[in-house]
Amino acid sequence: MIILGLETSCDETAAAIVRDGRVVLSSVVASQNDIHAEYAGVVPELASRAHAERLVPVVRAALEEAGIGLGMIDAVAVGHRPGLIGSLLVGVSGAKALAWSLGRPLVGVDHVHAHLYAGVLHEPGERPATPADDLFPAVGLVVSGGHTSLYRLESWTGLTRVGATIDDAMGEAFDKAAAILGIPFPGGPHLDALAESPGADDRAADLPVSRLGRESLDFSFSGLKTALLYAAKGVPGERSKTPPPPALTDGRRRDLAASFRRAACDAALLKITRAFDHAPVPPRALLVGGGVAANRLLRRELTRFAAARGAALVIPPLHLCVDNAAMIAGLAHVLATSGRTSDLSLQAQPTTSC
Ligand code: KG4
Ligand code: ZN
Repeated sequence: MIILGLETSCDETAAAIVRDGRVVLSSVVASQNDIHAEYAGVVPELASRAHAERLVPVVRAALEEAGIGLGMIDAVAVGHRPGLIGSLLVGVSGAKALAWSLGRPLVGVDHVHAHLYAGVLHEPGERPATPADDLFPAVGLVVSGGHTSLYRLESWTGLTRVGATIDDAMGEAFDKAAAILGIPFPGGPHLDALAESPGADDRAADLPVSRLGRESLDFSFSGLKTALLYAAKGVPGERSKTPPPPALTDGRRRDLAASFRRAACDAALLKITRAFDHAPVPPRALLVGGGVAANRLLRRELTRFAAARGAALVIPPLHLCVDNAAMIAGLAHVLATSGRTSDLSLQAQPTTSC
């Protein structure tokens, strides 16, 4: 089964062709970083206009790269929730038009669930890094610019969200931390690179790891962000009582980046540890996705954790961590083969409760 996937939930216009839910024949992503950089964040109206301009060329490029014609598509999938409503509407409308005109099924896919699926995709001729069977029960973590959610999974369609951020998403926290430190947009990858540089001291600042009580599986990053602000620029109104912070030299910036990254990753690991400890039966896999899954320290820590628990770590290569349409087309295969297709009444939904 060959599925064309579309993804326009935020600021990436993406199309992909995936065979049998696993083999990525093409994955084209048109990033809008250049459009939003001057605002240091995504401007929704600019994002939806850019999607409208780029969707058709991106679909054409995906077909060309895969070497197939539209007539060979068995189903059209689209990320229809959650996201920016104007952005989602472009992808959903485009997918409906394609599915209707081709006479093929339409499959609506949850963008956040699809991030968890990205780790089982592979290139043609490549051996899958992880077997698709035997992964369940699993714990799933999605950490991106818009989402930070923890799941228990019995199958690809049997997911329960057991935790989520109560304030900033983890990627958003990275981006805000980067802005505090004067690191250019998009902040997350740049901060990660700076924290990785030789000599970076991740204990230079004592930054808090949020727990939210002994049992909670929720996340909070706003306290960490404020602590970083104070460490970088001093405590407002307290200047007379506390010594001023060290000057924000390049070295200090590098150390604060490393300290922030360490605390943020410790917070994620803490909640994953709890999710494993609270699981009724030991999870067989840890599924991770979203832009922050590209973070080098997080990847090292997750690898270590999964090995210690005897669980498979299913984490995508870097280009499939960030928003892409291959994950949409991949999960759509599971949905379509279990009869979960949509009709033309499929709605773009800005939020999701699962
Ligand atoms: O999944 P994604 O492309 O979009 C959303 O669905 O939000 O994730 C983008 C987020 C941004 O906040 C970006 O700063 C963050 O992922 N990110 C990173 C890294 N690479 C991307 N954060 C930390 N370290 C990275 N290496
Ligand atoms: Zn995403």
